[in-house]
Amino acid sequence: MRLILAPMEGVIDHTMRELLTSLGGIDRCVTEFLRVSDRLLPPRVFRRLCPELERGGITASGVPVYLQLLGGQAAVVADNAARAAELGAPGVDLNFGCPAKTVNRSDGGSIILREPRRVYEITAAVRRAVPADVPVTVKTRLGYEDRDLFPDIVRAVDEAGATELAVHARTKRHGYRPPAYWEELARARQLTSLPLIANGEIWSPDDALRCRQVSGCEDLMLGRGALCRPDLPRLIVATARGESPTPLSWQEIPPLLVRFFEMNLVSYDAHHAGNPVKQWLVYLRGYYPQAAPLFEAVKRLREPSDIAACLHRAQVDPGRGRAAA
Ligand SMILES: Cc1cc2nc3c(=O)[nH]c(=O)nc-3n(C[C@H](O)[C@H](O)[C@H](O)COP(=O)(O)O)c2cc1C
Repeated sequence: MRLILAPMEGVIDHTMRELLTSLGGIDRCVTEFLRVSDRLLPPRVFRRLCPELERGGITASGVPVYLQLLGGQAAVVADNAARAAELGAPGVDLNFGCPAKTVNRSDGGSIILREPRRVYEITAAVRRAVPADVPVTVKTRLGYEDRDLFPDIVRAVDEAGATELAVHARTKRHGYRPPAYWEELARARQLTSLPLIANGEIWSPDDALRCRQVSGCEDLMLGRGALCRPDLPRLIVATARGESPTPLSWQEIPPLLVRFFEMNLVSYDAHHAGNPVKQWLVYLRGYYPQAAPLFEAVKRLREPSDIAACLHRAQVDPGRGRAAA
């Protein structure tokens, strides 16, 4: 089994990748999407999105980071894919799943799923442009309006020579509403021998087990679940081995928040470094109720020193919730 950390624009940047991969269980990451419209982007744009390129495209824990591209013009996407590979990306991923209106209006993301032929053309062009030893992976949804074209999409990705296909098991129209239709991956398996990666609504080791059973997929991609429970990947791995791992307790979370804040202080302007921490607390409170009062305490703080003090107090006394902050 391999576990892949999902790309999440505005949420999983290099600092979050570094933090989450340090906790174990993740075999690969994918960057947020790089939108390409009509030109070859300069190297600095790639390096900003994926600072891991400076050290061979791996996180500090040694986990490879594939660079994700989003665009509708095959030749331009291919040129940028070649550049990503030249700059040292260990793999290139193509985004055919993004539901955002602004992205779809500019002919990128899930809108391309209405035309499987274009999925083929873009993927094939990228495959041709990138050295054979660099994987080209594809991330898709089940379709745009409905799932009718899903078999054609799967065949298109296969025929274009992609290395793997990750499927967020919902259509664009489904948005992020549960459930995810994992069973569609079992059907796709009848159409292709490509490795398929199941994605969507995996929040617990139990979900992972069920998803693997229903989809027939060995490999899984985790997004929001890994933000709510940063140890979810390693719990899934241990559970699959038949172990009964102990989940991270709330007491172990504030030190991670402090570390994450410090990483953000190094990477971003000090006055913005608190925002990713606040955003992460919103995810964390989905699993840890104690994250809610801490979020309330930190959300209006602007000064880096105030945020640091608040997080340090939570670290010293994680049990006191609001009072701790
Ligand atoms: C805030 C947010 C940003 C996302 N950004 C991307 C992205 O840049 N590229 C991409 O392929 N998918 C993106 N996705 C989709 C996720 O990778 C994933 O497919 C989806 O969240 C379902 O998985 P989950 O239920 O494990 O979160 C994003 C999802 C969210 C919620």
